[in-house]
Amino acid sequence: MTTSPVLTVPHHPLLLHKLSLMRDVQTGVKEFRELAAEVSLLLAYEAMRDLETEPVTLTTPLATAAFPMLSGKKLALVAILRAGLVMTDSIVRLVPAAKVGHIGMYRDPETLSPVAYYSKLPADIAERRVFLTDPMLATGGSAVAAIENLKAAGAQSIKLMSILAVPEGVKRVHDAHPDVEIVAAALDDGLNDHGYIMPGLGDAGDRIYGTK
Ligand code: URA
Repeated sequence: MTTSPVLTVPHHPLLLHKLSLMRDVQTGVKEFRELAAEVSLLLAYEAMRDLETEPVTLTTPLATAAFPMLSGKKLALVAILRAGLVMTDSIVRLVPAAKVGHIGMYRDPETLSPVAYYSKLPADIAERRVFLTDPMLATGGSAVAAIENLKAAGAQSIKLMSILAVPEGVKRVHDAHPDVEIVAAALDDGLNDHGYIMPGLGDAGDRIYGTK
């Protein structure tokens, strides 16, 4: 695992294997979508490593004892539409009590700047730990804008979960929001002239939804 105060990359063989399958141009929509969901679960396992627990007394078939159960702040999962949806849809199965928000953001193909068109967040987001999902942390523009949106709604504890990140995106998020930790399955080399992650996996939204 590579951990800096900013970015955590778990380096787990299962995660890396599944990510490599996602990168393969031969991987079709169904498999890509399933892999994205599985990678998201493995990322959530890492991103939620520091959730608080407290001992709760339970009775097993053999004994009564105290066992750890989740405590502390409740959770919110927030997807940046549209590609972040596959991540929250998967992760909510792990944490079914989490509330789920959505931020609609697209990237202007000319300026590469994020344009917000939708935001629907849990009303009590200020009291929740927020896990923001953006599969491709490329320029970081969408992530920075989404985090601003979350903070304007009162969010105080935010982690960003990405399948792939590049140094430019990590720096941009960190410069704008140094309090936000990032968890990514891999840190790729950088961006090409069109703002795509290299070597990357292509357009995550198109590959998840079969549009193109
Ligand atoms: N968004 C994607 O889907 N892919 C990239 O490589 C960059 C941004």
